[in-house]
Amino acid sequence: METGRKTGAHPSEHAAGVLEQIALASDCFLLTVAAPNLARAVSPGQFALLGCGTVFDPFLRRPLSIHQVDVERGEVSFLYRAKGAGTQWLSQRRRGDVIPVLGPLGRGFRHSGSGKKGLLVGAGLGAAPLLFLAQELAGRKWSLVILLGGRTKAGILRPDAFERFGTLKTITEDGSTPKKGTIIDLLQEELKKGGWDTIYACGPRAVLKVIQGISCRTGIPAQISVEERMACGLGACLGCVCRSAHSSGYLRVCKEGPVFDAGEVLLDG
Ligand SMILES: Cc1cc2nc3c(=O)[nH]c(=O)nc-3n(C[C@H](O)[C@H](O)[C@H](O)COP(=O)(O)OP(=O)(O)OC[C@H]3O[C@@H](n4cnc5c(N)ncnc54)[C@H](O)[C@@H]3O)c2cc1C
Ligand code: FES
Repeated sequence: METGRKTGAHPSEHAAGVLEQIALASDCFLLTVAAPNLARAVSPGQFALLGCGTVFDPFLRRPLSIHQVDVERGEVSFLYRAKGAGTQWLSQRRRGDVIPVLGPLGRGFRHSGSGKKGLLVGAGLGAAPLLFLAQELAGRKWSLVILLGGRTKAGILRPDAFERFGTLKTITEDGSTPKKGTIIDLLQEELKKGGWDTIYACGPRAVLKVIQGISCRTGIPAQISVEERMACGLGACLGCVCRSAHSSGYLRVCKEGPVFDAGEVLLDG
């Protein structure tokens, strides 16, 4: 039986108190908040909508993946890049500030059984949802190889945290890590070793499209976490749809995703 997606965990509002905001390299931040009910309800691959400003500016909340959870301490962490108005506002929150958080949202990664072999592939900020997944799979005695890629060494996010759950391999486009190239180069190399049960991936669309092709050619099941611009996050506005690969219809990234089987969606653009 497949597990990994908790059922019955309806999204709810959390007034999440900021515990820590750590500035990492490349405009990236690790934000940890106190949200015990969210910590208990969420599963890897799901996301939350974070209020990112005063009442109406910016109006829309921003979707961020759940990066790390400590159920005992009631803490949830987010790994994000401060790029536009909302995430820049978020990066200025400090200990004691309260952030409105709606979650858990969406459908996360699926897994079944124990003792399997998983390949986790994160390009840049694509590392964000994979740490929580690595923690969960390692707890089920999966053997994991975690591939992280970035333009530079600074773009390889939280390598020490990932190393606790599997074998970490990194690659950079500028060669500032021992291996120079793209995350796809690293993936192709690893695939030659064989024996993989599932590939789990998150990153830019171009990378996910290549992984779709690899999964189709090799028959190795892959799950990809897809991003789209979002408004409601609850499946009501249809602002986040992408095309279904199996019909002429559409799938809502916030509801049927953000994690899809690689063959389930057409990644246009
Ligand atoms: C399910 C999901 C999980 C995500 N997880 C993470 C994460 O863990 N870490 C991280 O750094 N980023 C993540 N993103 C992307 C993140 O939501 C956007 O970078 C962020 O919303 C941009 O907001 P802004 O205020 O910085 O930029 P602005 O440009 O001011 O945002 C303008 C509008 O565009 C939307 N938007 C802009 N870029 C994106 C995008 N790539 N995806 C979706 N909406 C976008 C915003 O929600 C907002 O409504 C995720 C996106 C989705 C859909
Ligand atoms: S964001 Fe409204 S349906 Fe997905």
